[in-house]
Amino acid sequence: MSDNIIPLENSTKSEQYTSLIQQLKSLIADESDLIANMANTAAAIKQVFDFLWVGFYIVKQNQLVLGPFQGSVACTRIALGRGVCGTAWQQGNTLIVPDVDLFKGHIACSSLSRSEIVVPVFHEDNVVAVLDIDSNHIATFDEVDALFLEQIVQLIRFV
Ligand code: SME
Repeated sequence: MSDNIIPLENSTKSEQYTSLIQQLKSLIADESDLIANMANTAAAIKQVFDFLWVGFYIVKQNQLVLGPFQGSVACTRIALGRGVCGTAWQQGNTLIVPDVDLFKGHIACSSLSRSEIVVPVFHEDNVVAVLDIDSNHIATFDEVDALFLEQIVQLIRFV
């Protein structure tokens, strides 16, 4: 196993995601532990794109509870329907927020966050976690990020 994720230079976002997915497949293929795989997935995304914050919230006792992440300390529990994360969980859809100040109920864990994407993680048709990514720039995320991040969360097995 490679001990490092190699970002592609001078390439499109799609090419970077495609390369990242190939590397993630080999990184987590032989590991069944959920937390280990979430931790390396968050680290790999952060390493390639240098987003402000990358991490998982895991559904536990009908709340989202902070899981493995890369970035500054964050709020630990989010209720269903609250903030971007709780809304993505409730709706079962990826949410792209180009400007967090315009999202009613946005939970500001960091004042540096300007835009955000939240991708639900499914197991047997239920949302069991969300992948949350924050950027310190406006409108960082688009449908390309959604498409590839939805593929990335499918690599994580809940057993
Ligand atoms: N902004 C998120 C809260 C989590 S932090 O960004 C890490 C939200 O509104 O749900």
